[in-house]
Amino acid sequence: MRFVRPSVHISAPVPAEVEEALRRDFDLADGPRGADGIVAMLTVTVDDAYLDAAGPQLRVVANYAVGVNNIDLEAARRRGVVVANTPDVLTGATAELALTLMLSLLRRVTEGDRFVRRREPWQFSLEFMLGERLEGKALLVVGAGRIGRETARLAEAFGARAVTAGRGDDLDALLAEADIVSLHVPLTVETRHLIDARRLRLMKPTAVLINTARGPVVDEAALAEALRDGVIAGAGLDVYEREPEVTEALLALENVVLAPHLGSATRDTRIAMGMLCVEALRAVLLEGHTPANAV
Ligand code: DGY
Repeated sequence: MRFVRPSVHISAPVPAEVEEALRRDFDLADGPRGADGIVAMLTVTVDDAYLDAAGPQLRVVANYAVGVNNIDLEAARRRGVVVANTPDVLTGATAELALTLMLSLLRRVTEGDRFVRRREPWQFSLEFMLGERLEGKALLVVGAGRIGRETARLAEAFGARAVTAGRGDDLDALLAEADIVSLHVPLTVETRHLIDARRLRLMKPTAVLINTARGPVVDEAALAEALRDGVIAGAGLDVYEREPEVTEALLALENVVLAPHLGSATRDTRIAMGMLCVEALRAVLLEGHTPANAV
């Protein structure tokens, strides 16, 4: 009997190294329909409709992200479809981006960049564009997972004092004490709008908010108002509530650093994430076992 290679659909282009690894073991399918496995980007919603369209032969969805909020896990479970994600390999890159946003905001780097590009007249002077140091700041890391822990570690290397808020901690009380609040929770029903107008008002007027997790964890309209009204001092955002849309009011504010979802965006990281997807597909479709990174 001839061995039929399983077919895999890739929802968007992947690095060449990853595609090559996939082609070694699988036939690539143009669409999800009829595929045995899927490599899904976080921009694809894998819900009942998607899974029905793919068909009953589908056995595994490898999400090219650590966050799996784009996947209806219950719908997958009902069909016996294994879902895998890409933990660990993007921890360092994402934590570095959180630090990048903090430092850019505190030291007004992107504001200064815009200023220079506008060709505004300037010369060195002692009171010009003063910022704040990270050293000595009280950092509240919201979410006690890998990326949160790594962000705390990196910030401590800069002399910040990091406190982590996990489930069961009194977030309201901790928010009131922090100079910097950095979000590292998955997007779930419980964490949607975790930071809303009420919680923004609990923060110090000098505090800044960093979000490299998922946009809907923050009420973006409330954040824009809080920044405009001086309720908090600044924000560094890598993710947005209606990505890739960004609340218009944020664009006009100088005290905001905006990045286009770059948390895991280094070539090595993206290749490592892809290889974890390949491993998950191999585990399910070739070796018949649950992948190490099953969700
Ligand atoms: C993730 O993996 O969840 C990031 O947001 C994108 O890499």
